[in-house]
Amino acid sequence: MVSFLIAYASWSGNTEEVAEIVEETLLSEGLDVTVHRIGNGPIPNPRQFDAMIIGSFTWDKGATPDKVKDFVADISYKPENVYVFGTGDTQFGGDELFCHAADKLKRFYESKYEPLKIEQSPRGIQEKKVIEWAKGVHQHWQHLHALKC
Ligand SMILES: Cc1cc2nc3c(=O)[nH]c(=O)nc-3n(C[C@H](O)[C@H](O)[C@H](O)COP(=O)(O)O)c2cc1C
Repeated sequence: MVSFLIAYASWSGNTEEVAEIVEETLLSEGLDVTVHRIGNGPIPNPRQFDAMIIGSFTWDKGATPDKVKDFVADISYKPENVYVFGTGDTQFGGDELFCHAADKLKRFYESKYEPLKIEQSPRGIQEKKVIEWAKGVHQHWQHLHALKC
């Protein structure tokens, strides 16, 4: 079974909600999904999964939270198939800094898929966007995998 790791950091719950919707969507597509809250418990080994999805909120003028930086450093290599999502708020620096941590993670991991950016909580009108993105991630992975076979 294809296995995905979702590793996310959340302070006030928005990014956690996105992670939950992504998890539900991928489970409904028949994938094996493991969720890791960054900073809680032992760090999973991305090598044991077919792909990793990393989610983060953005802090202090476009900053990536220290927990997330530590997680990236602790993994100590760049997994190949990485997908990125983030939550943020445009009132903290407009479009330029909105979900900046997600942009930086995408660049770092050279993710081939556009990161998902959610303003605050995904529940309500943005939920559909999360579901579509998660389905798109699965399709993207399937496409890449088919090319490799
Ligand atoms: C002090 C502070 C600084 C923030 N800075 C930014 C920022 O630079 N860019 C951004 O998009 N969001 C920023 N935010 C908004 C958070 O990223 C947003 O509320 C996010 O959804 C929180 O995620 P969480 O609920 O998972 O902790 C900031 C929030 C706080 C409280």
